[in-house]
Amino acid sequence: MNCPSRSFLISALAVLSLGFSGSVLAGDPVRGKEKSLSCQACHGPDGNSPVPMFPIIAGQHQDYLLHSMRSYKTGERTNPIMVAIVAPLSDQDLEDLAAYYARQKGLYRIDAGIGVETP
Ligand code: HEC
Repeated sequence: MNCPSRSFLISALAVLSLGFSGSVLAGDPVRGKEKSLSCQACHGPDGNSPVPMFPIIAGQHQDYLLHSMRSYKTGERTNPIMVAIVAPLSDQDLEDLAAYYARQKGLYRIDAGIGVETP
């Protein structure tokens, strides 16, 4: 049976898989570390800010970090400091930074389900 719907199905699958690969978090943590120099004054050397007024971003979920940084660009979040910080950064910069900070050891073990302090 020469079924035209088969080739349609294959191309539909190809389009779908492209769509999915586009949504995979593609940050590079090594580049993220290089780009994090300007963040250290407030968020600490590895994202564990020593100052309560600056949030600890180490060990936070990668997609959450990316979402919050993008929110300063879109105007969803309006903190003037962070709006100015992310303004000159590209989306690739934000992805790299999110990848870097998500891999740092944070104050809390998010995977434990509750806030368990690590030594
Ligand atoms: C001058 C100080 C300062 C610098 C420099 C700075 N930040 Fe921030 N950052 C803040 C403050 C203050 C907040 C909290 C803003 C708010 O309430 O929305 C924040 C919030 C954030 C958040 C959201 C955290 C959350 O829990 O939602 C992320 C992510 C973040 N910063 C990443 C960065 C990155 C990446 C850099 C460097 C490119 C950077 N920041 C540089 C002060 C700073």
